[in-house]
Parts: sequence; C-alpha cells; structure tokens
Amino acid sequence: MLPKISKEDEKIIAKILRLKKEKDALILAHNYQEYGIYRIADSIGDSFELSKIASKTDKNLIVFCGVKFMAETAKILSPQKTVLLPDISAGCTLVKNGDVDEVRKLKEKHPDAALVTYVNSSAELKAISAACCTSANAIGIVNSIECEKIIFAPDQNLGKYVQKHSDKKIILADNFCSVHTHISKKSIDDLKKQHPNAKVVAHPECTPDVLDICDEVASTKGMLDYCKTFQDQEFIIATEQNMLNRLILECPGNTYINAGGVCEGMQKITLAKVLDALENEKYSISIDETIMKNAKKALDKMLEISK
Ligand code: 13P
Ligand code: SF4
Repeated sequence: MLPKISKEDEKIIAKILRLKKEKDALILAHNYQEYGIYRIADSIGDSFELSKIASKTDKNLIVFCGVKFMAETAKILSPQKTVLLPDISAGCTLVKNGDVDEVRKLKEKHPDAALVTYVNSSAELKAISAACCTSANAIGIVNSIECEKIIFAPDQNLGKYVQKHSDKKIILADNFCSVHTHISKKSIDDLKKQHPNAKVVAHPECTPDVLDICDEVASTKGMLDYCKTFQDQEFIIATEQNMLNRLILECPGNTYINAGGVCEGMQKITLAKVLDALENEKYSISIDETIMKNAKKALDKMLEISK
C-alpha cells in the first residue's frame, strides 16, 4: 500500500504546486524519493531518464529531488539554468573527498586505459573521464568506448557486474554504495524461503553473490519495466526501500517485498524543504566553469552513445 499523506503535507503539496506554476519550475524526482515528493514531481525516474530530461528542458528553473550529484549533473547539462537542491547536504556515499586523487593514481598506473565514471561521482571526477554512465547504460557505454582497457569508477560492484558482460579488461576503483553493499545474500535467501515463488530483482550496486541469485538485475527504471511485464507476481526488491512505492504506483497488481535499505541522502529531501527551496531559491548548484565544461563532455558522450 502507498503511504498516507498527512493533512499538513497535503497543504504543503498544494502550496508547492501553486508556486511551481508561478515560477514556471520543473521538478524532477528520483525513484528513491518519498511518495509525497512523487506527487509534486513533473517527472520521476532513474538517473539516466532524469539526466536526459534535464538536458532537454526549456524551463529555466529546475528543482532536483534527489542527491547532490544528480542536481550537479542537471546543472552541468544545462549550465545556463538555475538548479536547486532542497537540502545541500543530501549526499551519496559513492561521492567521497579525494575520489579524484585515487582515480588519478589509477590513470597514471594504466596510461593506456580509458576512464568511465558512474554518474554517482563528483563533478571533478566526471571532468577527467572519457565518458560517464549510469546503471541503466554502464555495459553499453563500456563496450562502446574504443579502448580495450577501462578504468571503472567509483562503484566496484557495478564495475564487477559490467566486467561479466564485457570482454574488455576492467580496472576497478575501490568504493561501494553503503546501502546496496549491505544487502546480504543470506537476507535474500531467507526471504526466498518465506516466499518461494518470488522473483528476485536487484540493483547492480549489490554485491556479486547477491546478483548471482537474482532473476533480474536492473537500474530502477529497468526494475519497473521488468515488473510491469507480470501480474499477480511476488517480487523481492533489493535496492533502496522507497523504490517499492514507485513499483506499487506503476504496477499495483504485484506484491513487493523489501530487501533493501535506506539511503540517508535521498531521505533528506522533504516536502517542507522543497517548498522552502522554491520560496527562497535555494540551494542553487554552482560548479567551477572549467570542471563543468570538461564534465559536460563526459556526460554528452554518454548521452550520444545511449541515444
Ligand atoms: P539509478 O541508476 O537506477 O537511478 O540508481 C541510482 C542510484 O543511486 C542507485 O543507488
Ligand atoms: Fe548513493 Fe547508494 Fe544512495 Fe544510490 S542508494 S544515492 S548509490 S548512497
């Protein structure tokens, strides 16, 4: 069942919708946002879908309901627009101080390799990359780059998953998503015992032993597409827990069992903060111009390859 929205939040939703119209703003929400945020969003999606929308919109004001790298990606793709992130501390554990230094060392060690960077990264790291990718297109991007050796950063689990689907030699950086890496094979096995007919669907940021026992490995949009092809089916969903709301909303005929955790960064965005962001135009994303220009090249390469 979808969560109930309190009377107080309904009032905030009405205010946001009014202000959104007045300011001609576009509200983008990642699938991991709470259900109330879905209600005010113009588009809900995975990182790849949202980055495509951000690159094409003619609106001058974008409010991004997600984590900081997502708002930064929107800003890099539309530098002339104002991009607001309702809580500037909404972070992703894959984005770490010093991640660029670690990857620079890998580049020095493997000068013949091309760097492919997952969008869950800092703008600085994107700026030194040959191309970016998301979980929806990582395999395709890596296989399209004209280089037999690829440094894949920063998510090691996604990199290992890509390696299984590529003949290229992949050199991995050393980072994980704290939410997905803590989903254990044992917890999935236990849920499977309780729900023997359930299909297991996991995000490729999960560990390889979890991915090995899955029926489907997909980005959050891919999960939606997969579950939509079933009716009256049970699914064990191994990703951020809010994904279940999106699945219930779009394909309610199935049953979803949560095997995932909570992304603290994603949960920092609330309706009250979105209202505050719109009222006071905060927090506006700004990035150094040179970094932005170089990061855009890597993001544009991704958009060009996965058109
Ligand atoms: P998507 O690529 O499905 O949007 O996932 C992003 C993410 O942060 C997963 O943890
Ligand atoms: Fe980052 Fe993990 Fe949260 Fe996704 S779920 S935004 S990878 S911390």
